[in-house]
Amino acid sequence: MCGIVGYVGEQPALDVVMQGLRRLEYRGYDSAGVAVLGSDDELRIARKAGKLANLDAELAGTELPGTLGVGHTRWATHGAPTDRNAHPHRDCSGAVAVVHNGTLENFAELREGLTERGHSLSSDTDTEAVAHLIEERYDGDLAAAVREVAKELEGSFVLVVAHREQPDLVIGARRNLPLVVGLGDGENFLASDVTAFIAYTREARAVDQDQVVELRRDGVRVTDLDGNDVEGETYHVDWDTAAAEKAGYEYFMLKEIDEQPEAVAETIGGRLGRDGRLRLDELAISDEDIRGFQQVVIVACGSSYHSGLVGKYAIERWTRLPTQVEIASEFRYRDPVVGRDTLVIAISQSGETADTLEALRHARQQGAWVMAVTNTVGSSIARESDAVFYTRSGPEIAVASTKAVMTQLAAVYLVGLHLAQIRGTRDGDEVRSHYADLAAIPRLIEDTLTRMDPLRKIARDISDAERVLFLGRHVGYPMALEGALKLKELAYVSAEGFPAGEIKHGPIALIEQGTPVVVLATRHALSPKLVTNVQEIKARGARTIVIATDGDDSVTPYADHVIRVPDTKSLLSPLLTLVPMQVFSAEFAMARGLDVDQPRNLAKSVTVE
Ligand code: AGP
Repeated sequence: MCGIVGYVGEQPALDVVMQGLRRLEYRGYDSAGVAVLGSDDELRIARKAGKLANLDAELAGTELPGTLGVGHTRWATHGAPTDRNAHPHRDCSGAVAVVHNGTLENFAELREGLTERGHSLSSDTDTEAVAHLIEERYDGDLAAAVREVAKELEGSFVLVVAHREQPDLVIGARRNLPLVVGLGDGENFLASDVTAFIAYTREARAVDQDQVVELRRDGVRVTDLDGNDVEGETYHVDWDTAAAEKAGYEYFMLKEIDEQPEAVAETIGGRLGRDGRLRLDELAISDEDIRGFQQVVIVACGSSYHSGLVGKYAIERWTRLPTQVEIASEFRYRDPVVGRDTLVIAISQSGETADTLEALRHARQQGAWVMAVTNTVGSSIARESDAVFYTRSGPEIAVASTKAVMTQLAAVYLVGLHLAQIRGTRDGDEVRSHYADLAAIPRLIEDTLTRMDPLRKIARDISDAERVLFLGRHVGYPMALEGALKLKELAYVSAEGFPAGEIKHGPIALIEQGTPVVVLATRHALSPKLVTNVQEIKARGARTIVIATDGDDSVTPYADHVIRVPDTKSLLSPLLTLVPMQVFSAEFAMARGLDVDQPRNLAKSVTVE
């Protein structure tokens, strides 16, 4: 996610804001910028693609005097990471400076309206539209203007705004994403998280949904969108900086697991147009070409391969297109049969995995269309694809992928629906119904996260096991593979995932008295088959940990432990069962005293073949 800082006080604002942005670098970003209001009422801006060092170089030798400022580190979602897309963004007159974190789902309409009303927008960002909207509504009361604009925005946002006519006022506003106030003495702060200002003050105040902050040197006022004062809790921050970067979590991985509802909401949100049709604007492949596809091939590695396996079920179900999922490092060496009739989907969180990049290049050489599903704007895989679907999980710090895989799942479902909509294999009502099911998932993930303590206890109780098996059928099978991979990479345990029906063709020989077996047994037409599989392993001494749907007891009588997840369409169940796979492996590894953020031998991005 982006990093945001606002300051008004007595210190040089540039120093305070830049220091705050450095503290927020861990959040990941690909451009940065600042705006400072001088005593001459000039609102001066500096912004640069790349790291803060580039901005520092840009600032060397220039003067940005003043004690009021805003700053931003941008993780690109709308628009590539370039100088002109870097924040802050300004209005036509240069009087307003806005920095923004989040995704505005109606920004296309907003931009259209502004252009019709004569505004000229110079960037590809959704943020710039906000600066011009504030310009239109500003009549001397900046807080009122921001409140009115916030009412028009759809989607998620944290806004921090300065105006050259307001030497003692910075405005903040938030919906769905975090914003916090730092309360100083003769100075006050706004930031994405407390890390940015705890070097100056440890007194903070939370900002709640749809609230607007008026930040002045001598005080802070918080209102709702109608201008009514609202009360808020102030608290003392006793974290050190390292802990603050993890927002108090012991590991980034645990924080990123908990960020999954927001990450999925960001990835899914705003994809349904006012005409009721799914709208994946970034997939720049014509409807005609989409209707011409005869097969789909998904190439990926590791956890991204597992999300591709789930994608196979959805794409084949909804489009009737034969869909193969290939380990990227194997794909090009088997002389695959792909061509103009083939859509190749390359899934990669980093967008830099060499195996996947080379597979993509091979597919293109064979004339295939290539679509990237990636979390990293401007990455090599994104740049070398015909179309890109950007997941919006925000930067993922932990090596073991969690929220990125979760948003890859959301992405492959959306791509499947998009293809079905264009090819006419699913009508509008069906597409909207499936989209509604997806839109309900963030809340269900939230619910799932609240149920994990019993599973954490089980993981700790069996953390001396040297072998754990994972079983699943249909879309439960890719989640069995993902659960096994997580346990391998985090706890260094021999863990294997199998299709449940395969257990009797060899792997059942691995079962000994007490062997832990995690069974993905959410509600499914195949549950009766799964019952037989679980009986087989129970009879041989397995300790069964069954992940089951609320109210579905087809498999639970044979379980030593039952972990419940909420109900959803069976095809979408990986969006819920992925959570216990992550929590189980993280807790198991921590019980062994291992660092779940930096597992041995592993890198976050494998850029060598
Ligand atoms: C996931 O937990 C692993 N760290 C690893 O398998 C990862 O998914 C794989 O290396 C692919 O990375 P990518 O998504 O960045 O291409």
